[in-house]
Amino acid sequence: MDSNAIRDSTILVTGGAGFIGSHLVEALAPHNEVRVLDDFTTGDRAYLPDDVTVVDGDVRDPIALQKAARGVDVIFHHAALVSVTQSVDDPRRSNQTNLEASLLVLEQARQEDARVVVASSAAVYGHPETLPVPETASTTPTSPYGVQKLAADQYARLYEGLYGLETVALRYFNVYGPRQRGPYSGVISTFLEQARADEPITVEGDGRQSRDFVHVSDVVRANLRAATTDAVGEAYNIGTGQRTTILDLAETIRTATGSDSTIVHREPRSGDIRHSGADTSKATRQLGFDATVGIESGIRSLVGDDRSNAATDTALEPNRGGGSYR
Ligand code: UD1
Repeated sequence: MDSNAIRDSTILVTGGAGFIGSHLVEALAPHNEVRVLDDFTTGDRAYLPDDVTVVDGDVRDPIALQKAARGVDVIFHHAALVSVTQSVDDPRRSNQTNLEASLLVLEQARQEDARVVVASSAAVYGHPETLPVPETASTTPTSPYGVQKLAADQYARLYEGLYGLETVALRYFNVYGPRQRGPYSGVISTFLEQARADEPITVEGDGRQSRDFVHVSDVVRANLRAATTDAVGEAYNIGTGQRTTILDLAETIRTATGSDSTIVHREPRSGDIRHSGADTSKATRQLGFDATVGIESGIRSLVGDDRSNAATDTALEPNRGGGSYR
């Protein structure tokens, strides 16, 4: 365990039963009193250690939030509607969860004088003006989701300036890892499912678009750093600094799984970002954070999970032998 790691604290993780939140809870629970606020629409109780306190409720509900946040030292705010497509279909609905609830969380944190770590997104940059993109680049989101994440990210900064609340915004690039599943999950989980079933791997467009894929265990480490840093009131890119094309990703997954899947091309996704990659030098400098899991080893560990047929297990998880949440 990192000597700077947070311990003996009372912590709330909103969205704590979801993909990223549950990995974070798992890392925090051995050393802290952890509460989870989750409505279990996409989260799963099976992901949670036995000794966490669960508040089954909606992050938009001020009463549930108040109950979950009473007396906490830190709030990790991960509850969100993560689908960009859903936000395009119903901007007001996603605004309630992604923005209005974030403001509720910040207000609740003021009551408790708690630090807040906000899950922001690379979506704030829209089509990045430079690659890799630094935090100082212009922010022109191309979806309601991106606008909502940008506003929450800016509110976090503002609350530090206006009210002296300790806040940190983490702008995640394309996060992947165990427990990412469902109709709105990312390209890696979709390709893995297709490869395992020997079904065609569906590349949208020419496949030469690229992303910065960051493993969830690295995202957890970034959160732990954000919980203790003195460099508050800031936003940080959380990625690896390496870009992978979607076509290369398809090949890597086909090889790693030993699949007979063909690679087929579909229409490109409308409004798709062509290239996305993080300049992570600010996180390195101010948080002491560097990603440790490269795309090939990250994929291999996921495939290992599939082979052993363990739905949530991985060599990279802390309680199961890998111990990489440091
Ligand atoms: C992702 C995040 C989003 C975040 C954004 C930040 C997910 C699910 N979404 O969006 O929350 O705001 O990064 O940059 O992690 N693709 C295919 N075939 C498929 C599925 C996808 O070729 O079957 C392609 C897409 O067209 C896209 C790329 O893979 O070019 C990545 O898509 P996806 O995983 O949905 O993530 P983003 O759209 O980058």
